[in-house]
Amino acid sequence: MAYAIPFRPERARELAEEPERKPRPEFRVEFRPSRRVVSVPAGTTLLAAARSAGLPVASACGAGGICGRCGLRVLEGGDLPPETASEQSAKARNRVDRELRLACRLPIRSDLIVTAPYW
Ligand code: FES
Repeated sequence: MAYAIPFRPERARELAEEPERKPRPEFRVEFRPSRRVVSVPAGTTLLAAARSAGLPVASACGAGGICGRCGLRVLEGGDLPPETASEQSAKARNRVDRELRLACRLPIRSDLIVTAPYW
């Protein structure tokens, strides 16, 4: 069964008048000890940044914030968002070191230097 989407001229006007979105700023992420570096747009998760650098990060939940396997240590970084209740809960449930951040839950908002013992 096909559905017809009603054309709404007022919505078309709204979309035409929306200001162009500014490109998101990019941040530099360095992975140690491999010393690989990537630049990623703000808001990219640390997990996605590591993968774009070609570095493996453990994950059993598909970046769902459940398994706690993606814990990485942030060595330097100015603007880290605080842990959410779900990140804290996943870390506690999976006995993740308190010093680690779940890479799949950490949006990048500044330059970072991170490490994992297996890189
Ligand atoms: S990949 Fe499972 S908690 Fe991050």
